[in-house]
Amino acid sequence: MLRSHTCGELRIEDQGTEVTLCGWIQRRRDFGSMSFFDLRDRYGITQLAFNEETNAVILDEARSLAREFVVQITGIVRERSNKNPNLSTGDVEIEVTRIHLLNRALTPPFTIEDETDGGEEIRMKYRYLDLRRNPVKNRLVLRHQTNKSVREYLNAKEFIEVETPYLIKSTPEGARDFVVPSRLNEGQYYALPQSPQTFKQLLMVSGYDRYYQIVKCFRDEDFRADRQPEFTQIDCEMSFVERDDIISVFEGMIRKVFLDVRQYDLGEIPVISYDDAMRLYGSDKPDLRFGMTFCYLTDVAKGKDFAIFDQAETIVAINVTDGNAFTRKELDAITDYVKRPQIGAKGMIYCRVNEDGSLKSSVDKFFDREALSQWASVCASQPGDLILVLSGDHSTVLKQMNELRLHVAGLKGLRNPENFKACWVVDFPLLEWDEESKRFHAMHHPFTSPLPEDENMLDSDPGKVRANAYDMAINGMEVGGGSIRIYNKELQAKMFKLLGFTDEEAKEQFGFLMNAFEYGAPPHGGIAFGFDRLCAILSGTDSIRDVIAFPKNNMGRDLMIDAPSVLNKHQLNELGLSN
Ligand code: AMO
Repeated sequence: MLRSHTCGELRIEDQGTEVTLCGWIQRRRDFGSMSFFDLRDRYGITQLAFNEETNAVILDEARSLAREFVVQITGIVRERSNKNPNLSTGDVEIEVTRIHLLNRALTPPFTIEDETDGGEEIRMKYRYLDLRRNPVKNRLVLRHQTNKSVREYLNAKEFIEVETPYLIKSTPEGARDFVVPSRLNEGQYYALPQSPQTFKQLLMVSGYDRYYQIVKCFRDEDFRADRQPEFTQIDCEMSFVERDDIISVFEGMIRKVFLDVRQYDLGEIPVISYDDAMRLYGSDKPDLRFGMTFCYLTDVAKGKDFAIFDQAETIVAINVTDGNAFTRKELDAITDYVKRPQIGAKGMIYCRVNEDGSLKSSVDKFFDREALSQWASVCASQPGDLILVLSGDHSTVLKQMNELRLHVAGLKGLRNPENFKACWVVDFPLLEWDEESKRFHAMHHPFTSPLPEDENMLDSDPGKVRANAYDMAINGMEVGGGSIRIYNKELQAKMFKLLGFTDEEAKEQFGFLMNAFEYGAPPHGGIAFGFDRLCAILSGTDSIRDVIAFPKNNMGRDLMIDAPSVLNKHQLNELGLSN
């Protein structure tokens, strides 16, 4: 080893010891005849001290070192006169006796400090420098701890990790595939897996009744903060289980991860039906860190000659505790927020519940005290509260109210990233009608089984059938989803038919799975967690890019290696792609 200790290791007990450290020069401070340098490595920072009076030669050498130079130093551990309680090594410093320059460095294009002056783009281009910064490094360490905690849990429960191929045939799971041309099979393409879904089901047929894989998945989707074109799943499958078994096993996993990584007890994790989630929160991934559940005013607010309400299918409200403190200006800003094209509300009505119990709405002309007190009673409002109301077409207004609820919670500081609240959402619809293609799509994927009690409606009323599926949401983000699978060839064939596949198409795309089902397929089910999303939540960030070592930007580009890039003629010829 080139070092005896790391830069995060030395304590007061080590004083007097001769040590050798390696690291990067972080910064330098000069005080008269004294100079101090911070030496940094992955583990921390150690102060190096130089005194002109006792060792002028060494000080001269040190002063020739610039930021980010890599050095090996030897010296004696001394107690610091000016201790730094914010640093684990803050009680000591090294009186340096020897400096060995290991490598020089150019001046970095941005400062390697917790608060840097570098913009997003430059930091992505020089990601290897950005990764030296504490906030970025800490998130990667957290990611590693999460990975370790997950593996410990699953290994202890007899899950085995099996690798499945990356060069496959497309699995229809909603997104577009990334494709890879085959040189040996000209004109033919592999697809990169959107998930190992069919392979893990085949492993169940093979008898590996508890499988997991922490695995890369690839989806050619449009950019969002919680999406990357390549991302990682904790992908799991089990045989001989029912929904509640999966829920209990994986609730245990998530609970352990939060305890191990954040020392946080998630408490009880409620199971909410899809219908309730939509009705109460307007979202299938509700943020349960706060209340403000939806209240419906449709019955009490219609028929008062207020045209907007009278024409609306649904009138929905939230009660904001202590919301009367919002000023008129703040309420105008909230109204502007919901009127933004991304949300698209036509307007927002509010009703203040004053301290004396009187009610004051933005539509007093149409609603007298008695009418407004009906609103307050439906919303269980208390003096000092505020009622916010949106109206319109049912499904649209629920989505808008979801955005409004989240926005107001943000304004009130209720979306604290240090608080975590998880929930399961179950009983999703099996199918979703798509107006454009005039056919049903699988809400989860085509291998999801219907709830046994709804199976009889598959022919008569397929849109009503609920899926034996479950999602987990934490703090309003979908972190995982899965289902109990179809394991019977006839039911799978029926499902493909409902989804608009002809027999030939189903056979061509999924013949291997249907055949496998004829060789003794066990009942099985599973789940996949978005590993990046889980890590983002655990580290209190909104963007999964923050927890990925080398992420892509919002155009799917890697700015550091400059990918994607064009291929040269020779490569194109070889792949049969030139024309
Ligand atoms: P699903 O498509 O719901 O299910 O994906 C599982 C979880 O993966 C995460 N996720 C993503 N994370 C980052 N970037 C993306 N582009 C992205 N897309 C999805 C989400 C999501 O909950 N095979 C099924 C699972 C199963 O049925 O077992 C599947 O892939 O957190």
